[in-house]
Amino acid sequence: MEKKTILVTGGAGYIGSHVARQLGEAGENVVVLDDLSAGFADAVLYGELVVGDSGDRELVSRLLSDHGIDTVMHFAAHLVVPESVENPLKYYGNNTCNTRNLLQCCQESGVKNFIFSSTAATYGIPAGGVATEESPAAPINPYGTSKLMSEWMLRDLSSASDLKHVILRYFNVAGSDPEGRIGQSTPNATLLIKVACETATGKRDSIKIFGTDYPTADGTGVRDYIHVEDLARAHLDALAYLRRGGESTLVNCGYGHGYSVREVLDAVQRVSGKPLNIIEQPRRAGDPPQLVANAERIHKLFGWKPRYDDLEFIVKTSLDWEKKLNSRSRS
Ligand code: UD1
Repeated sequence: MEKKTILVTGGAGYIGSHVARQLGEAGENVVVLDDLSAGFADAVLYGELVVGDSGDRELVSRLLSDHGIDTVMHFAAHLVVPESVENPLKYYGNNTCNTRNLLQCCQESGVKNFIFSSTAATYGIPAGGVATEESPAAPINPYGTSKLMSEWMLRDLSSASDLKHVILRYFNVAGSDPEGRIGQSTPNATLLIKVACETATGKRDSIKIFGTDYPTADGTGVRDYIHVEDLARAHLDALAYLRRGGESTLVNCGYGHGYSVREVLDAVQRVSGKPLNIIEQPRRAGDPPQLVANAERIHKLFGWKPRYDDLEFIVKTSLDWEKKLNSRSRS
């Protein structure tokens, strides 16, 4: 059977570029659509890069028909929680309205499979800090709400058509390609491990801990950090699941255990061998105390086998990438 093409929106970004690379390595045909607002052309290692907006219906319809696309993986989105609190309409515009436009194009051209990047931020503050897919969706920031609204549109469209979907709710994604080809390059990054690695490599003077009075073991926020390479693999597993006739579903993507901010910073100091200048600050707006996945469903349904459930390895690959970025900017 002729292999169809997969459209990867946001495929020049951090997570999308790792997925596009794994798809390419697996022999899949890939087209990347990215407006390069947060992505990088040189992160696209496989397939054609089309520079444009995933909410541009004319462009998307043309791409879907010209390339005979039967699967869409939708990564393009804004994703910074505090920014979404300050500028909610930016998030509803890009994340929700653009997804609606994209879904309309998919419906019109008869796309079969839709794999959607969603987030653990849809859970808000789950009871006990651990979320199963059945936990109530109760986002506490506009970012989480913008993604939840997209999930609902997708669910409703799948009920009303032949489209099948997998919603992947990501926990805290970190690390980079173990072979060092691509990584997390976002300027002015806010992610804990990225900021800590920038501090360890001298790009920043200090790192702040946002909140030391949370009801957690050491008072700092706890998250489930998942290596981007394992997360990327979950997308290929989701595609295989849909191709073998799996029903539309929603799965958590995390390892099922968490680390506190202090534990992460200790790991960065151990792996880098550099003491960090750490400044304790009040809590940051929109942050839950603890967010950890119950990850049973993804193992059971997809047979997902994570390879890098190891905080030090996550930190090492992040640090290696940071050093590479620093040497590039000096040359
Ligand atoms: C990240 C994702 C978000 C996703 C969520 C799922 C991004 C930009 N954010 O948000 O899309 O929904 O995971 O859980 O991809 N912290 C500090 N100092 C810092 C930075 C962070 O103490 O300089 C703390 C935060 O308060 C939090 C933890 O570290 O407790 C993780 O924060 P961060 O890395 O920013 O990720 P999330 O906000 O959890």
